[in-house]
Amino acid sequence: MANKTLLITTLLLTLHAANALAEGDAQKGQVLVDNNCVSCHDHSIYTRPNHIVTSYGELVARVEFCETQNGKNWSAQQIADAVSYLNKAFYKFK
Ligand code: HEC
Repeated sequence: MANKTLLITTLLLTLHAANALAEGDAQKGQVLVDNNCVSCHDHSIYTRPNHIVTSYGELVARVEFCETQNGKNWSAQQIADAVSYLNKAFYKFK
């Protein structure tokens, strides 16, 4: 029993670490955003005055929201890529 708990804990920690480490590829992200994200708004929304995203965490949440709403079903890696691109090109959060 104790072994099982330890195994599950280790698995969860490993998954968590893998998620946290998912490094975005901005070049792939740009292709993803250019191809999937301009039907409702163009890129100017990211730098509009009073843009709603004001932190890195909010950017991740908004990309997930817009992507899910549009039925894209992106992987964690694709989300990380898009976030990386949007942050490098527009938001520039540290
Ligand atoms: C079905 C229409 C639609 C599509 C397609 C869409 N979005 Fe959005 N998105 C919106 C709307 C509407 C807003 C503005 C929400 C508001 O002002 O409250 C928005 C806002 C945003 C913002 C925040 C802008 C700000 O003010 O800081 C980001 C980032 C964003 N979208 C990313 C994406 C990405 C990435 C995709 C592609 C996966 C995408 N969107 C596709 C509708 C869409």
